[in-house]
Amino acid sequence: MAKINLDSILEGRRSQPHMLIEVLLDLQDQEGYLPEEALKTVSKELGVPLVDVYRVARFYKAFSLKPRGKNVITICTGTACHVRGSHLLVNQVRGQLNIEPGDTTPDGQFTVECVNCLGACALGPIVVHNGSYCDHMTPGKLRKKIDKAAGKKKEAQDA
Ligand code: FES
Repeated sequence: MAKINLDSILEGRRSQPHMLIEVLLDLQDQEGYLPEEALKTVSKELGVPLVDVYRVARFYKAFSLKPRGKNVITICTGTACHVRGSHLLVNQVRGQLNIEPGDTTPDGQFTVECVNCLGACALGPIVVHNGSYCDHMTPGKLRKKIDKAAGKKKEAQDA
């Protein structure tokens, strides 16, 4: 595994425990998740106990402790979206990708996550694909979106 360069992220933030969330956000941006080795370095350099670093990393949904796929599909399963059928969307990805929410496909192409409310309940059910909001999602539309994302990867490999 390539060594993670934290120098630019930690510059000007060393020994400043209150910078923890900012450092974790930058690390997440850089690596796509929060690798264990990097968290140990962050703990040491900021002077925050490792247990507290993990507590923060686990608390916020924005952070992931596992590598994520190229396509991150987030399904809102809050009450309003659930009433409008988000459970059918979860079943769709389970059947199509053969993974459970929170998991990544073995080829690293898709990660599926569930969240509680994205704050756009009237437009539900909502799915976020790599940061883009998709409203009034149906299992059929989601299936096509996943097929398209998987196809793009294949085209890129063929090129
Ligand atoms: S419950 Fe899904 S956006 Fe609010």
